Amino acid sequence: MKIAASFLDIKEPKCEELTKLDSLDVDYIHLDVMDGIFVENKTYTYEEFYNITRLTTKPKDIHLMVSDVKKYIDEFSKMNPEFLTFHYEAVSEVSSVLNYIKELGIKVGMSIKPSTDVAEIAKYLPYLDLVLVMSVEPGKGGQAFIEESTKKIEQLYNLREKENYNYVIEVDGGINDTTIRKCYKADMCVVGSFITKQNYEEALRKLRD
Ligand code: DX5
Ligand code: ZN
Repeated sequence: MKIAASFLDIKEPKCEELTKLDSLDVDYIHLDVMDGIFVENKTYTYEEFYNITRLTTKPKDIHLMVSDVKKYIDEFSKMNPEFLTFHYEAVSEVSSVLNYIKELGIKVGMSIKPSTDVAEIAKYLPYLDLVLVMSVEPGKGGQAFIEESTKKIEQLYNLREKENYNYVIEVDGGINDTTIRKCYKADMCVVGSFITKQNYEEALRKLRD
């Protein structure tokens, strides 16, 4: 299972904290970008994000929780992330956004909120590099894992087998050393507060166990 570390729960994150996260046994640095419109909270500007993460070496996994998706794609694509993920619920022209990211040469991810069913995004699955299943309501860290999410992971797993799709299945929200086990059919999980609210190395040991 690949792990993407989220620093959303670090208040006023600095380069030093990010370097510490980056040195752990994690596979990606996950950037939670919020605009105060699609979700209530607002994170940082592109320049601030760039500054905070400038010394990290791990590939970036960017999660856009924003309404004006194209504006943020134009900015954050400059970071050359491995994955750039937008929310299905935020856009009306899904295919156009999907192609827009692909044309930039970046792997495209699409995320669904807890209330959105896999069936709703079925027609886009052949074109996606990643599907992000939100296992909490997007908007803040430290919430409890929604158990129903495992059903969506299972559905996406089965569909990929059956139809020979290529997307990575990612799960985000409420992941700790217990809930990670329930997500064994996902390829990648985002972990925020479980890491940043305790000794980072110890948290990683527990997760990898
Ligand atoms: C929530 C964010 C998550 C968040 C996860 O909207 O997308 O990435 O940081 O935090 P935890 O692991 O604390 O649920
Ligand atoms: Zn996230």
